[in-house]
Formats: sequence, structure tokens, C-alpha cells
Amino acid sequence: MSAGEVIHVNLGDQHGYDILVRPGILRQAGEWLRENLPSGKAAIVTDSNVADTHGKVLSESLSAAGITPIVAVIPAGEKHKNLHHLLPVYDQILSAKIERSTPLLAVGGGVVGDMGGFAAATILRGIPFVQVPTTLLAMVDASIGGKTGVDHAAGKNLIGAFWQPRGVLIDPGVLATLPPREFRSGLAECIKHNLIRDAAAFAEMEKDIDRIIGKDADALTDLIAHNARIKARVVEADPLEKGERAHLNFGHTFGHAIESVSGFSYSHGESVALGMTAAAFVSRELKLIDEPSRLRIVKIIQNAGLPTGGLSLDVPEITAAMKFDKKVKAGKIRFVLLDGIGRAVVRDDVPPELVQRAVESLRG
Ligand SMILES: NC(=O)c1ccc[n+]([C@@H]2O[C@H](COP(=O)([O-])OP(=O)(O)OC[C@H]3O[C@@H](n4cnc5c(N)ncnc54)[C@H](O)[C@@H]3O)[C@@H](O)[C@H]2O)c1
Ligand SMILES: [Zn+2]
Repeated sequence: MSAGEVIHVNLGDQHGYDILVRPGILRQAGEWLRENLPSGKAAIVTDSNVADTHGKVLSESLSAAGITPIVAVIPAGEKHKNLHHLLPVYDQILSAKIERSTPLLAVGGGVVGDMGGFAAATILRGIPFVQVPTTLLAMVDASIGGKTGVDHAAGKNLIGAFWQPRGVLIDPGVLATLPPREFRSGLAECIKHNLIRDAAAFAEMEKDIDRIIGKDADALTDLIAHNARIKARVVEADPLEKGERAHLNFGHTFGHAIESVSGFSYSHGESVALGMTAAAFVSRELKLIDEPSRLRIVKIIQNAGLPTGGLSLDVPEITAAMKFDKKVKAGKIRFVLLDGIGRAVVRDDVPPELVQRAVESLRG
């Protein structure tokens, strides 16, 4: 079994933090906390799907280390990612008489991480925060970078704050219970990372995809560590999302539109898979990549069990939705494209006619 990896995230003036990817670390979280963020109590924010499994292991680990856990459980699912469902979390944590030094741990997927992080950012104007992600998506994406927040009726993630974690504890073993569709959703972000940053790792992933799908323990630890590192390096270079962090949006301009027009019947990962397919199509039409590269992209997405076609949504509705994306600047849609596998470029001059053909290509 792999001993795991430590990825340090440097934050310039602020103190950085470590991402620990290690099988079994969930059971060692109490010890880690005692050494790194000593406190008699710790808040745990989790959701109704993982509270009795991974949440319980975490709180037992804290108790064993002499730390009293204060556990707040949010009902699972994106539809509960709002202030309404955060209020009882505040009530519970504040009534436990915590201090500025009391850490808050979020154990769950990206919803719990974003909500727990926002609670940590705002309770007593900020308490130490630790991410304990339990979905692949949260491990390689949502738990890293310091973006926290909740949704509002007016849109997703509209209320939030940047609040960096003091540590990210990743136990690949927790993925054993993750439903396959959620697992594949995370794989879409892993494919994205290699496409924008790492051609060699993309080639490795082409070979390893069956071991990954089979949740081979070593393959998972390597996959998570590699992808957490890519996300960490990108956010390190651009902590407040002013420049190159935009590359992480590859496949997401098309993807967000598909996700929203489908009324969220496509998952985020499925939408991003379709979005990456469309972005690869545009990259090919603009002669930034060749046809064999485009076909490799389509193939790995399919081998990961994600969609690259079969879209039955209205094309004009999707192109219209893209114009409302947060990332639109001065009316121009900025697309992240590829000028080779492993290399991202941002372009704001993609003709609307080509955008439309790219979406149409997903209908096949
Ligand atoms: N902060 C960021 O930078 C960032 C980046 C990407 C996404 N996000 C956010 O992350 C959220 C999506 O994250 P997600 O895909 O993890 O969704 P999620 O948190 O809803 O988790 C997906 C489902 O899996 C369940 N689950 C979690 N871990 C499990 C496990 N080990 N075993 C069994 N079930 C488990 C959850 O209860 C939920 O039902 C979105 O709200 C998105 O906005 C944030
Ligand atoms: Zn995404």
C-alpha cells in the first residue's frame, strides 16, 4: 500500500498549508489536530450521507486524541447549500462556547466543504479550517484553493469568501462508499487537469484508466495526489483568481450551460465531460490541436464512463445560457481551449457560429 504524499501549498505572505494524501489518515485526524491546531474542542460539519460513516470515524479519532467533537449535520445535496441550512450549524457551534482557536473540520463532498469553509470564515470573524474531503471531486478540486460559500436563489456560489484551510486531509479509502456516478464526476476534473497542464500524465491516465475505475488503492492514491498537486500549483500561482486559474474553467463554459439547461439532470462531471468534448471540437476547428489529439480526448472521456454525445437539449438555449456565465467579460465569452494536450489557452474570439456547431456536435 502506498505511504501517501504531502503536497505543500505556498500562499506567499499568508501561512501555507499541507495537503496530506494517505490511506488511513481519517483515523489519525485527531492526532494531526493535536499536533497542528491544538484545542480542547473541534467542530465537525458533515452531511446526512456521510455523518454515520466517515463523519463518525473522524469524531472517534478526535475523541481518542482528547478533543471534544461538536458535530453539525447538514442534509445532503446541493439544494441544501444555502444560508437557511447553515444557520443551524452556526447555532450549534456557537452554543458550544467555542474560541477563536477552535478548529472546524468539514468532512464530506464539495457541498460540505464550501459550507463548512464559509462557516469557518465567518464564525468569530474566522476560525481555523480543515478540509476532509470524501468525494473525488472535493479531493482534487473543491477542497483546495480557499473558495468557500453557499448558493442563493439568484445563482450558485453567490455568497462566499476566500478562506484558506490550515490543512487538507485526504483518505483515499473513503472513496469505497462513493456512488459510481459521483466517482466519475471527479474523474472529469482529473481529465481536465491533465489536458490543461500535463501531457505525460494524460498518457499515463490513458493506460491506467481501468485500474482507476476499479478503484485500485495505489492507483487512487497516485491519481488524487497528482491532481491535488495540479490544482494546488494553479491556485498558488493565482490565489485570488485573476489570471491562470481561469484555465481550470476548461470545459466549464459549455458545461455550466449544459448543466443548467438540463435542469441539473446531467451531473456536474457529465456536463464538464460534454463541455470538454465541445471545447476540444472548437480547438480542433481553430487548428490548435490535430484530429488524433481530439480523438484521444473523446476516448479517455468515454473510457472514464462519461458522456461525449447524445445530447438532446435545445442548442440555442445552451448558447444563450453561456452568455450568462460568470466568466463572461465585457460581453465576450472567454473560452479556455487547448493548443495541444497539456496546454491551455484563453481565447475570446471564438465565432458564435463555431460555438453553435460545437454544441450541435454533441447531439451525435
Ligand atoms: N470551492 C471550490 O473551489 C469548488 C470547486 C468545485 C466545486 N465546488 C462545489 O462542490 C460542490 C460539488 O461537490 P461534490 O461533487 O463533492 O458534491 P456533494 O458534496 O453533494 O457530494 C456528492 C454526493 O456524495 C455524497 N458523498 C460524499 N462523500 C461520500 C462518500 N465517501 N461515500 C458516499 N457518499 C458520499 C454526498 O452526501 C452527496 O450526496 C458544488 O457545490 C460545487 O459548487 C467548489
Ligand atoms: Zn468543475
